[in-house]
Amino acid sequence: MAGGTGLVGGTLLQLLGGDTSYHRVTSLVRREVPTLPGVALQRVDFERLDQLVLPEVDDAFCCLGTTRRAAGSDAAFRRVDLDYVVAFARLAQRAGALRFLLVSSLGASPSSPFLYPRTKGECEAAISALGFTTVVIVRPSFLVGARAQARPTEAVALRVGQLIRPFLIGALRKYAPADATAVARTLVRAAATAPAGVMVIESDSIR
Ligand SMILES: NC(=O)c1ccc[n+]([C@@H]2O[C@H](COP(=O)([O-])OP(=O)(O)OC[C@H]3O[C@@H](n4cnc5c(N)ncnc54)[C@H](OP(=O)(O)O)[C@@H]3O)[C@@H](O)[C@H]2O)c1
Repeated sequence: MAGGTGLVGGTLLQLLGGDTSYHRVTSLVRREVPTLPGVALQRVDFERLDQLVLPEVDDAFCCLGTTRRAAGSDAAFRRVDLDYVVAFARLAQRAGALRFLLVSSLGASPSSPFLYPRTKGECEAAISALGFTTVVIVRPSFLVGARAQARPTEAVALRVGQLIRPFLIGALRKYAPADATAVARTLVRAAATAPAGVMVIESDSIR
């Protein structure tokens, strides 16, 4: 797991840590964090994932991500949301991973004129081209959940999303906020059931 200290990743790690179908769960972290039952923490330098060797891996889950604001520049944002994700995928692949499960975003598209969806789209394309047996890409809308640090812009977007939710029917349903716990559950289920190939789960299919 990469991104296991985040909103989706934290919930996902709790599920995986208690999942008896996994013999071992390892969370790659960049800082000191509290331990979780059933989860081994491994401090890593995300700039040097190419030098890391992991014991045998079956499934790799990636919930990494930052914001343009937190990263400080377009390039720094892309370093995390594209380069680190691809480096993590290559690391997992070297360890024998067959399945890669990625949290991307609603609207991800390599041809988007906007930084965030374009970077997410490029990341999806890069991961899909790596040759995993199964790639699962989940594209949530705004995430709902208890975040340790409030994000003012997200809070406003979320409030708007909740207000308009009753009107989001048919093709508009994918714009409704996505529950972070439901995203995590969707990933666990997909790891166990997704067939070979690339599977994209849009926000309105997250249960
Ligand atoms: N938030 C939304 O509304 C939303 C909507 C659609 C899609 N998404 C995408 O869904 C995914 C999960 O989102 P989330 O809100 O659960 O994420 P989050 O809570 O912001 O957590 C992000 C994770 O990435 C790690 N990370 C961030 N910057 C890093 C860096 N420079 N080096 C190493 N690790 C770094 C964080 O580690 P630390 O704890 O050490 O910082 C954390 O584990 C992301 O890819 C995000 O872009 C989010």
